[in-house]
Amino acid sequence: MNHKISKAIFPIAGLGTRFLPATKSVPKEMITILDRPIIEWAVIEAAKSGIDEMIFVTSSRKNIVLEHFEKSELLEFNLKKKNKLDKIKLIETQNRLGKFSLVIQDEPKGLGHAVCCASNFFDKDQSFAVILPDDLIMSKTPAIKQLIEIYEKTNGGSVIGLEKVPINKVSNYGVIEYKKKYKNFFTVSAVVEKPNKSEAPSNLSIVGRYILNSKIFQFLKLGKKGFGNEIQLTDSLVSLIDSPGLFGTEFDGKRFDCGNKLGFIEANINFGINDKEINKHLRKIIKKL
Ligand code: G1P
Repeated sequence: MNHKISKAIFPIAGLGTRFLPATKSVPKEMITILDRPIIEWAVIEAAKSGIDEMIFVTSSRKNIVLEHFEKSELLEFNLKKKNKLDKIKLIETQNRLGKFSLVIQDEPKGLGHAVCCASNFFDKDQSFAVILPDDLIMSKTPAIKQLIEIYEKTNGGSVIGLEKVPINKVSNYGVIEYKKKYKNFFTVSAVVEKPNKSEAPSNLSIVGRYILNSKIFQFLKLGKKGFGNEIQLTDSLVSLIDSPGLFGTEFDGKRFDCGNKLGFIEANINFGINDKEINKHLRKIIKKL
């Protein structure tokens, strides 16, 4: 029996060390791509996919992330005084994106641990989304919606986002082995976190988009450590393969890894080129380089 995917977990407790010194005072998720913080792009993707409850798993020093989605009476008052009604419209949309909750991950014990911290939000046999905001995806149909569409064809199965990467990059990602390929999805038979290229079962890497069955919490609660001595989400995916089934899909869209400087700049350029207001001038600037 399929249930509507109404909740998404956003694991955002990381220290953002690759973006120091900026992340000394600003959470990595609040750094902007174009005019919105990275976390907002992820939340917009979820909201456009029919998800209405956003669960941030975070460290206590990141309350500002939640504040970003709250109504700001003072700002709205000041904008009104200055007759900047278009700007009011822009910020009003933020607190209409859904219901927001915060769960504190007390220690950085890995992605699997972060997801497990939100287990109380789910009933038995309830499926939910996990979105890693660092993986910013530009697409016509929101990436997580594309996964939901595959999920709806399964009987409570789980679905992960996939992208082919050059074989020398597989060691940066979770990688799958598959049994069968259908038109736009695979049946997954094994997963491995950050394998050496000689041990990788394929070059299909896991992107930070997941639809998971809550059965996964049984495995995660065992707290087994894997790659890097952390509780890995990838390892727990194995527990879903036999029942209710694990599937993967190469979604349509362009993925930017905003967890590193190059991917972050690439994302900004691409989002800029797609922005009506600055696109022409940005192209000119790029040409001149
Ligand atoms: C995490 C996951 C990995 C996945 C990646 C996608 O790794 O553990 O399986 O491929 O996200 O971005 P991280 O980027 O946190 O090292």
